[in-house]
This record gives sequence, C-alpha cells and structure tokens, in this order.
Amino acid sequence: MKKIYLLILLVVISQLTIKSQTTENEITIDASIQEYKINKNIYGQFAEHLGHLIYGGIWVGPNSSIPNINGIRKDVVEALKEIRVPVLRWPGGCFADEYHWMDGIGDPKDRPTMINTNWGGVTEDNSFGTNEFLELCSLIGCDPYITGNVGSGTVKELSQWVEYVNSDNISPMTDLRKKNGREKSWGVKYWAIGNENWGCGGNMLPDFYADQVRRYGTYMHNYGKNKLFKIACGPSGGDYNWTDVLMKEDAPYFDGLALHYYSFANQKTATDFDEDGWFDIMKKTLEMNELIEKHSVIMDKYDPFKRVALVVDEWGTWYKVEPETNPGFLYQQNTMRDAIAAACNLNIFNNHCDRVRMANIAQVVNVLQAMILTKKDKMILTPTYWVFNLFKVHQEAMMIPVEVSSSNYVYKDDKLPAVNCSASIDSTGMMHISLCNINPDNSEKVQLSLAGFNTNKIKGKILTAEKMNAHNTFDNPDEVKPTDFSNYDLNENNLKVNMPPMSVIILELEGEVNLKKPEYNLKNPTNGLNYNYYKFSGNSLPNFTDMKPVSSGTTDNFVIPPIVSEEDFALKYSGYIKIPVEGLYTFYTTSDDGSAVLIDNRLIVNNDGRHAMVENSGYVMLNKGYHKIELLFFQAGGGMGLDVNIKGPNMEKQIISTDMLYREN
Ligand code: AHR
Repeated sequence: MKKIYLLILLVVISQLTIKSQTTENEITIDASIQEYKINKNIYGQFAEHLGHLIYGGIWVGPNSSIPNINGIRKDVVEALKEIRVPVLRWPGGCFADEYHWMDGIGDPKDRPTMINTNWGGVTEDNSFGTNEFLELCSLIGCDPYITGNVGSGTVKELSQWVEYVNSDNISPMTDLRKKNGREKSWGVKYWAIGNENWGCGGNMLPDFYADQVRRYGTYMHNYGKNKLFKIACGPSGGDYNWTDVLMKEDAPYFDGLALHYYSFANQKTATDFDEDGWFDIMKKTLEMNELIEKHSVIMDKYDPFKRVALVVDEWGTWYKVEPETNPGFLYQQNTMRDAIAAACNLNIFNNHCDRVRMANIAQVVNVLQAMILTKKDKMILTPTYWVFNLFKVHQEAMMIPVEVSSSNYVYKDDKLPAVNCSASIDSTGMMHISLCNINPDNSEKVQLSLAGFNTNKIKGKILTAEKMNAHNTFDNPDEVKPTDFSNYDLNENNLKVNMPPMSVIILELEGEVNLKKPEYNLKNPTNGLNYNYYKFSGNSLPNFTDMKPVSSGTTDNFVIPPIVSEEDFALKYSGYIKIPVEGLYTFYTTSDDGSAVLIDNRLIVNNDGRHAMVENSGYVMLNKGYHKIELLFFQAGGGMGLDVNIKGPNMEKQIISTDMLYREN
C-alpha cells in the first residue's frame, strides 16, 4: 500500500515539475526537399446567409450611412484584402440547399422573400444575391466559390445558374444577366454540388448522393475556357465510409471532396472557460490531423496521383452564442484560444498540402470563428484574423516538410504535443516558419536545425496574450494583436527560439537554398526518352506499376509515338532532363486527356482526368545537372493532344526540346 502512495506522489511531483518547466523541443527543416505548393485556397473563407454575416456584416445597402461600395461595407472589404483572402464560399452551408438563386437577381424591390429556416427563422429579403456576391469577390480580389442547391433544388436550376454566371453564348440566361446589368460572364471556377447532403442537404445515403453528383455534375457545363472545379459533399468528421463510397463511385466526376469538421464546445460561450475548456478545444483541434490522414489514405486508394483535392470547406471552433443574441445567429467572441486553434489547423493544412488544396474557415464575419466582428458602423479584428494575417506568407509557397519532436503539454491525466510547426519557401526565396505553442502555462524552448538553407537574416512576429481568454472588444480593439518578436538566437544553421506560453510565431529568414546534388550521373547519355505503351481504358491515370506495356521504344521528346493504334491507351515516358542553371523551374502540360509530370520521383504537374486540351502546371527548385523526368499520359476517346513546356531562370516558357532530354544508352 505504501508503495502505491509513493508512486502516486512521484507522479504528482513529476507532473508539477513538468508544468513549471520550460521544455526543449527539436525541429528539423530540410529546405532542399520542396515537394508541394501550399495552395493559397487553404486560406479561404466562408460567408453564409446566417445571422449578421451577410446583412450588417457585409451588406448594408447602397443607402446606408456606413461607408459602402454599392451596398458593400468598405471597412470589411479593406480588412479582407489585407489578409489576402483567396477564395470565398457562398451562400451556405445549410442555407445553400434551400436557396433558389433566381430569387436573388434582378431589381431588389421585385425579389421575393423567403424564410431562413436553418438560421433563426428570419425573413431573407434576397437583397444580396449572385450579382452582389460576385461584386464582393471582385472588390476583395478573391475567387468566388458557389454552393449549388441539390437538397431542394433541381438539376435545371443549378445548370442555369452556371450558365447565368459563366456563359457568353447567346442564351436566355445570358440575356437575363445582361438585363441585370452585367454584360460579360464572371467565369466562376469553384462550384459545390450541394452541402452536407448527409444532413441538412437532404439526409441522403452515400450511394444515393453519389448518383446525384453524377447527375447534377453532368449538366454543370464548362463555358469558354473556364473549366469548372466541382466539389462534392464529403464526410462529416470521421465518416470514412462516406469518403470510400464517393471516391469509389464518383472520383472521375469531381475535383474536390469537402470535409467538414468543427471543434465544438457549445455548453459555454467563447470567453467563459478555464484550462479544462482550453485543453478540450486543443485536443479536438489537433484531431484534424488524423482526419486528414485517414481520409487521404482512402483517397489515395482510388486516386493515387492526388487529382482530387480534399477541401476542408467548413472548420473552426463552435461555442454557445454570446448572451442576449439569437441562438440561431451563431454569434461568438474570439479569444487567444481561437487564435491558437486557427494556427494549429493552418499548420496541419500546410503540412498536408499535397491533398488539402482548399479550406474555408467558418465563417468570415459575425458567425462562429470569425475574422471580423461588426456593430453598426464599428468593426473589430479578432485574434483569428491576426493569425490569418501572419500566415498569409505561406500562400502559394513551396512547403518544406518539418520533423517535430515536441514535448508534451500535460493536463490532468492527458497530454498533447505542445509545439507544432510548418514551413515554406516563397518564389522570392524567402523562408517562413510558423510555430505554435499550445501550452497556456509553459514557455517552450525550440531548437530548429535548418538543413539546405544558409541564412543570417531573420525577423519575427508574435501573437500572444497574458490570459487564455484575451480578446478584442469594441471598446478595446487592440488587446490581442501581433508584435515584433526577437527572442531567438541564430548560430549558423541552428536556431533557438523561446516561445512564450500560448503563442503563435512567424519567422522570416532570408538566405540561400542549398539543393541536394543531383543524384544522376549518366554514363552514356543520348538525347531522347524511353516510352512504354499500354492498353488502357479509364477516366483517370492508371497505376502504371501494376501494368504490363504492350510495347516499348524510344522517342526524341514528348510526342505521341506513331505506334499508337488503340483508341484508348496510356503512355509512360521516362528519361532525364538536363537543367542548365540552379533555380525555380515551372513545368506545364497541356493535354487531352490526363497527364502528370514527375521530377526525381515527385509529382510536379497534376493534369489528370478525362478532359479536352487543358493546361496545368507546377514548380520545383532544381540544381544544375541531370534530373529524372517522367511523363504519364492517357487517352480516352475523342480528341487527343499533348504539349509539355518548361520555364526557368532566364528561360521563357517553351516546349521541352530534344536537346534537354536524355536517356541512358
Ligand atoms: O457553419 C454553420 C453550419 O454548419 C453550416 O450551415 C452547415 O453546413 C454546418 O453544419
């Protein structure tokens, strides 16, 4: 018995000691590994007809005394431009599957009203509709992302919406658009085929919904050069069966699969919590990592070249609404806890940017984990806004994988990794490292070893606070705001950073990337490539490792060899490309149907799918010398074509010519 007491005492003492310590964490960052680009759309936002988001938060009408551009708040637009919002999802959420877009066009005084049954049962007067939304996006400078109504709409309705927005043909829908004052189409790329169709979007079973995706998607046409990026409703949290069914049945019919996951703590308001509430939200937030990894494994099974994006188009914290506000309006404050949750999620998305290529936090103004809160003509920026502002440097930068060995944030009988991180290199060669310490009690010492990067110039910014529930109010709007950070020590490639409790830090490092020496020393190089020709019929690139070629041969460059006899087939070209000088190279394929380029076994261009001549590109840092190059291509009926281009330092975009391509003789 005595022994047990002693053991318990030791455990308690060790926990207390851990709590008061500044602990050590190790992070390795190898800048010579740059595999995937961080799609800027990971920093996307969501705007639903919900509470005071659209009405009051964005739309005040042209006659308002609040400064506006054709009815849209100027202050909110300016704030959103500052964080470089890349894409905005609209009109819902659950609202989308009850929204009939034709009610929201034309003269506002003739627009019918409806009841917003999902959100407070208020009357929606439809004064903010398609034209207003698209004007908002052009003011912010972001891409629009429209969610179609599959739950209670019709195929015709969605098909006509796409036509109204995107067509420049002569048609009743384009006439209608012109009558409403808009001559040219907007060319909207991102469209969702419904929202949460397993729930508020029709309570469908996965097989039934999979059929609806094919049906609705068939009549959502591409107009002109604009190829739609269709996003299917994906799983709620850990519903892996939903992902499996959708990918198995439908992967060729959509470009993105939407995952929704919230960190719920809806018993208490956003500001009313203790460390129990802090730990709970951190734990739920970090679960995002596992969700993405497990859904990605399923997606990889059906889509090994990662053509289909995982689109996390609803995420964030969800609390009890603020006192005396309408429970259906989901209005919540936003504290340092939300800032840390946002930073964790953004680090997770960056680190999974091979598959996660869009994410939309819920929601942009006055709803859930908002960037902005408004009160009449006043506006405040939340701690979450500041995280987005700090992290914007990662948009379109090359992700650098990080290896984190973190100490634990121990709370009661549970623990979580205290530190998380992501890193990237932008097109000017600047490295950014975003670090997050989720521990509200302890500072954390972090040792970073930088491989493949020489730097002696560094600066930093930090977002932190004294209290877990620190937040900005209309009376005190600058309580939580980033400041300069210099508590680091750089010694050659070793960087030591002292992170205060509950802090988000962004470091900017100027320097030079040292790429790994090329691994290929060709003994007897000859210009040209090898190719394998396969019998194949399908809607996306096959898994070539499982296939036997019908024939093989050599070719000068990336032309379709004359040997091709089948209507449907696949080709794999392999060889080496000789890079003249070190630098950033962009590769492009324009193909009918799908194609992909791999450099040194890494996927650089993903242009997969059954389609007409479509261009896609990707970039990679390469050093001088030979690099392995592979081109994958498949043809599925109808037209056929293939062009492969390169652009690099002092090199205009050009077809990859025979004199750059080699094979072993
Ligand atoms: O973001 C609020 C709601 O949460 C959305 O309308 C719905 O899609 C989700 O359940």
